[in-house]
Amino acid sequence: MAAFGIDLGTSNIKIYNSGTDKIMNQKNIVAIANRNQLFSLGNEAFEAYEKSPANIKVSFPMSYGVIADFNNMQTILQVFIEHCAKGNVRGSDYFIAVPTDITDVEKRAFFDLVESSTLRARRVYLIEKALADGLGVGLDIRSSKGTMMVNMGADTTEISIINLGGIVLSKLLKIGGNKFDDAIQTNIRREYNLIIGNKTSEMIKKQLAYATEPDEGSGFVYGRDIVTGLPAELQVSSDFIYDAIKEHVHTIIDNIRVILERTPPELAADIIRDGIYLTGGSSNIRNIPELITRETKLKVNTFDSPSESVARGLARLIREGQYRNLAYINTRR
Ligand SMILES: Nc1ncnc2c1ncn2[C@@H]1O[C@H](COP(=O)(O)OP(=O)(O)OP(=O)(O)O)[C@@H](O)[C@H]1O
Ligand SMILES: [Mg+2]
Repeated sequence: MAAFGIDLGTSNIKIYNSGTDKIMNQKNIVAIANRNQLFSLGNEAFEAYEKSPANIKVSFPMSYGVIADFNNMQTILQVFIEHCAKGNVRGSDYFIAVPTDITDVEKRAFFDLVESSTLRARRVYLIEKALADGLGVGLDIRSSKGTMMVNMGADTTEISIINLGGIVLSKLLKIGGNKFDDAIQTNIRREYNLIIGNKTSEMIKKQLAYATEPDEGSGFVYGRDIVTGLPAELQVSSDFIYDAIKEHVHTIIDNIRVILERTPPELAADIIRDGIYLTGGSSNIRNIPELITRETKLKVNTFDSPSESVARGLARLIREGQYRNLAYINTRR
């Protein structure tokens, strides 16, 4: 029987299917028409985001790492699982990555999401997201070696210290790529009287964002001029984008330092030797590893497709039996 590994991100949902040995990565978004009809979901729904007519409501069911809209999240998951397994999913096992620094009730909801769905799961397991992330970057996380994982996503940055297959310290910060996008939007509005959409601010961020003072570079955004009310084009520089996001980037680094200060010395020694493991889509920001190194004096390890590292870890957990006991079954009602 197939097993599925699930990472429910605020921006992207990643599903590993052991049957095909592939990871599906789609926008975690749903479009509902006339209050209750499923119109579209995933990347297709994202196309309609900020463009849809009044009767179609587009929404993100995850917020700050937890399930904010249970029913829509369940719908998205069911449809995608059935789609990637071509219908035959009854009796499968599910491994769901959950942030550590959330409440038991919030964790429980991840379990219930699958358990109460139409998927008819055999078993549903939870696993701490930072452990899956560590597996995903190729570490043997059960060893007695301290490791620092920093996952910079869309709504959150999770900073964790792991050792012996467990979480020693973990903090879920409410800062990530979405905050960068918001800051860009706010600054463009304040400085240039131009209103731009979320997609546009994300696009220009990907194009121009640096974590350290950039040399040059610029790009164009399109929006609506507040004064004239008309559509307008604007050239913005990487410098401007850098100014917009830098405060948030520095808050993340301040928090990395706080966690390092709280790390037991024996584990800190391991981290000094191996450096920080940086994952999540927002670790794509240019020069972010360099800035972290400058501010913490630690080496920073980065990876290809960092948005999928947790899902790659879930794949390892499912394929390589020796890691299975890192996942646990949530206690029953
Ligand atoms: N090249 C890039 N430059 C800057 N940011 C990027 C780049 N590519 C992706 N991102 C950002 O990465 C974020 C998505 O990453 P990821 O898939 O890890 O988040 P998520 O898992 O959905 O969110 P979370 O873990 O916070 O719930 C988005 O904010 C996106 O804008
Ligand atoms: Mg994530």
